[in-house]
Amino acid sequence: MHVFSTEQFHKLMDASGFTGPWNSLIDLGAGDGATTSHIAHLFNRVYATDISAPMRWALARRKFIVLDIERWQKSGPFNVILCLNLLDRCDRPNTMLRQLKSSLAPGGRLVVAIVLPFSPYVEVGERGDHKPAEYLPVKGNGLDGQIAGLIDRVFGPIGLKCLAWSKLPYLCEGDLGQGYYFLDDAIFVLEVQEVNF
Ligand SMILES: C[S@@+](CC[C@H](N)C(=O)[O-])C[C@H]1O[C@@H](n2cnc3c(N)ncnc32)[C@H](O)[C@@H]1O
Repeated sequence: MHVFSTEQFHKLMDASGFTGPWNSLIDLGAGDGATTSHIAHLFNRVYATDISAPMRWALARRKFIVLDIERWQKSGPFNVILCLNLLDRCDRPNTMLRQLKSSLAPGGRLVVAIVLPFSPYVEVGERGDHKPAEYLPVKGNGLDGQIAGLIDRVFGPIGLKCLAWSKLPYLCEGDLGQGYYFLDDAIFVLEVQEVNF
């Protein structure tokens, strides 16, 4: 919920050296689009996906172009891709990361947010026990250890280079015992790693 403001987004993009173009943005697993709406005005075209029908209606009401979760890649490549708090909710996070990488326009930026400590929970997955079908190797001690682990053992081997990262509070809907929980959200700005032979 409420991952970043317009100003925080600008700071992250500046820190990563991104200067445009600002033609297209896609927010995957965008929820109701509250975060997307903070930065939508910066782009000419704004696309979004979500697996939940009520969320797709909310996104369409905000006038975003809502794409199918299996076919969104066909509308790419995109200058900026947001994948905020989705990798721990989707069944195939490794496949998703590879699709994200191949859907970035040249010089584009992929912004990934992950709630740490990493605790995946898939609502409707292949296994049927809320565990993901693919294992994302997020290891390391404590918050900083897991951040380093993500950069070195998850993004690096896929060919995604981390240009900037930050920690932000993440407000999560609670349970009967507590209305809300404050968690740590780690945000990474990534680019496709150049391969030199
Ligand atoms: C924790 S919420 C994050 C929402 C928003 N990105 C944010 O950070 O506030 C995860 C969202 O991903 C959606 N979702 C789960 N699996 C998905 C998938 N495979 N493709 C697209 N959306 C998915 C859920 O319906 C939910 O709205």
